[in-house]
Amino acid sequence: MKASYLSPAVGQYIMSHSTPPDDLLDQLAAETREVTGSHAGMQISPDQGRFLTMITQLVRPSLAVEVGTFTGYSSLCIARGLSGGRLRCFDVSEEWTSIARRYWEKAGVAARITLTIGPAADALRELKEEIGLAFIDADKAQYPTYYELVMERLGPGGVIMVDNTLWNGYVADPSYEDAATRSMREFNDLVRNDPRVTSVILPVADGLTMIRKN
Ligand SMILES: C[S@@+](CC[C@H](N)C(=O)[O-])C[C@H]1O[C@@H](n2cnc3c(N)ncnc32)[C@H](O)[C@@H]1O
Repeated sequence: MKASYLSPAVGQYIMSHSTPPDDLLDQLAAETREVTGSHAGMQISPDQGRFLTMITQLVRPSLAVEVGTFTGYSSLCIARGLSGGRLRCFDVSEEWTSIARRYWEKAGVAARITLTIGPAADALRELKEEIGLAFIDADKAQYPTYYELVMERLGPGGVIMVDNTLWNGYVADPSYEDAATRSMREFNDLVRNDPRVTSVILPVADGLTMIRKN
């Protein structure tokens, strides 16, 4: 359960009353645990995956982008929600994304996805097309950079989803003053004070900020 700031009972209730993942997503989660060990905690949660699919279905982007693909859970959920659009994925790891590629094939969505290996900021700077939907879930220190690069390319009404913005609940606890918590607070302040957008932090998993360009 990724919403560590909720009581375990509430977290369990949310999981058991949201549409469960299908067998392929369960297989991907199991293989990720087996192959990547403790890194598997980076994978988004099943309820978050459902939510990403639904948001994609509602936004109907021609181009969606994902910053931080890992073994492919969130990209698979986004790709499944597309109706004619494409997904550009960015990650630095050839090893982890080789698992993603296999699952995109198995799910029949590989033709909708283009993966670029390398620093996501460089790849975003080269992107010329308008973005309709973005999911940001890579190295947290660069969130402000990813946010600005996506914003510059996002069409009016476009949506950005940003993961881990509640940071285990530490952002709201003044006793946490470590660098990672402080930088997530700064990012949340930046979004809150950006007049170009309307935003809400959703208590989904580790905190998921939904941002709409006005
Ligand atoms: C939290 S994981 C992403 C989890 C993924 N969204 C999922 O659902 O499984 C973060 C990913 O960001 C990637 N990453 C880290 N630094 C990066 C960078 N500078 N550019 C692109 N990707 C990066 C890591 O390789 C890792 O796969």
